Amino acid sequence: MAVESTAGTRAGTEVPVLAGAPLLGSLFDLTSDSLGTYLRAQQRHGDVVRVSAGPPGLRTELYCVFSAEGAQQVLASESANFRKDNPFYQEIRESLGNGLLTSQDEEYLRQRRLVQPLFTRRRVDGYASAVVAETRATLDTWTGAADGIVDVSDEMTRLALRAVARILFGTDVDATVDVIDRSFPVITEYVLRRGYSPANIPRGWPTPGNRRAAAAMDELYAVCDRIIAERRGGEDGPEGAEGEDLLTLLAAAQSADDAAFDAGELRDQVLIFLLAGHETTATSLAFALHLLARHPEHQERAYEEISRVLGERAPEAGDLDRLPYLTQVLKEAMRLYPAAPVMGRKAVAASRIGGLTVPAGANVILAPWVTHRHPAHWPDPERFDPERFTPEAEAGRPRYAWFPFGGGPRACIGQHFSMLESVIALAVMLREYEFEAVDREVPVGVGITLRADGPARCRLRRRTRGTEGA
Ligand code: HEM
Repeated sequence: MAVESTAGTRAGTEVPVLAGAPLLGSLFDLTSDSLGTYLRAQQRHGDVVRVSAGPPGLRTELYCVFSAEGAQQVLASESANFRKDNPFYQEIRESLGNGLLTSQDEEYLRQRRLVQPLFTRRRVDGYASAVVAETRATLDTWTGAADGIVDVSDEMTRLALRAVARILFGTDVDATVDVIDRSFPVITEYVLRRGYSPANIPRGWPTPGNRRAAAAMDELYAVCDRIIAERRGGEDGPEGAEGEDLLTLLAAAQSADDAAFDAGELRDQVLIFLLAGHETTATSLAFALHLLARHPEHQERAYEEISRVLGERAPEAGDLDRLPYLTQVLKEAMRLYPAAPVMGRKAVAASRIGGLTVPAGANVILAPWVTHRHPAHWPDPERFDPERFTPEAEAGRPRYAWFPFGGGPRACIGQHFSMLESVIALAVMLREYEFEAVDREVPVGVGITLRADGPARCRLRRRTRGTEGA
């Protein structure tokens, strides 16, 4: 339960602090290697640790919560006490608007009610054929790959972007993929830097950083406006999905008196869904493929399952339950490489977490990156081992030992969508090609989401059997 104030905090219940540089604390560590810094904090001080960044007087204090039980408290059992009012969400809001990921309270409830129908299990299951079609289109482009080598990070970014655009917006974004690829990283880096910084130059000042971010935002806004205009131009709904897509639902709300969306709000939704819906799934897919490419024995097992279950036919939603090993592979990839490696909240009132006091107003950090490597639940945590996700193994762990999609009332709305898309896309790709890693290690970079921060190349070898039916 949240408590009213920190007054009376007993000795021994204060949160330990990660030692940093004398003047700036952990500022440089956080900006150069935030994930390594959080991991070190957990290894040195346990499950609740304070990390300070910036000079005295201007410090950002981050209360990091690394245990599964703490994550459950923040996201679920005490979710009302932990709001999206922290510096990172404020920066995302300023850059990408007040869409479903960022909004709160009445505004949030209105938006969630509106888009929920798109994400019911039945609706999402209907997207399977569109995912198969987009994956096949991606495979078609691989036949001419130089030396049979593709960068799975680039390829999965394109695939996930095309899938989300086609399914949610009923449009194709081929012409704008490059703009999105170029501008999102500029904005996410900007958001991250400002989120950690103890004091920020106002956004309106014409500094090089502000100007670069503003130009990237203008480019992205133009893409969203184009998507909206194309759909208004009377095109049909999305292929492979019945009924309305996100834009028709939002447009319908625009005409309803009680829920009017203005043009800016419509663009905010498109932008948030582009952000939340493509880079995340792309990261999961890319790392799942690359891990399999580095572990041929697991790849063979997945291939054997796919061929046995699907034969020559195209996968459909019902196959998810019939491909348990492939699903285990994906979950293990998301454990090691959670696309949202860190989430933030602000504590309204003080709260006791793991026996320590997190004060009112604290910036709270949850880090799936760290919790997914927690020694209490994950022996030999860096080892890739899909056996960690057999039903028996899952039943033996607390709910929040693995939480790539967050949890509680603000859990990812796209969770089933993403799992369906990923399993189906992996099945289509792995049945047709064998992947062999060219780069043994893939460095990770963090913006708002986790990404490969270097080449993630694989050599493709076509399987001998045909897959014309897919
Ligand atoms: C591997 C794929 C994905 C991962 C790891 C992921 C992760 C997350 C996480 C952790 C959150 C909660 C953030 C927080 O609590 O601060 C979230 C929220 C959200 N995600 Fe995802 N996501 C994925 C795919 C998707 C897809 C495919 C879509 C849309 C098609 C999507 C749309 C959203 C939206 C709109 C929210 C805000 C939901 C709300 O607050 O009601 N995500 N996601």
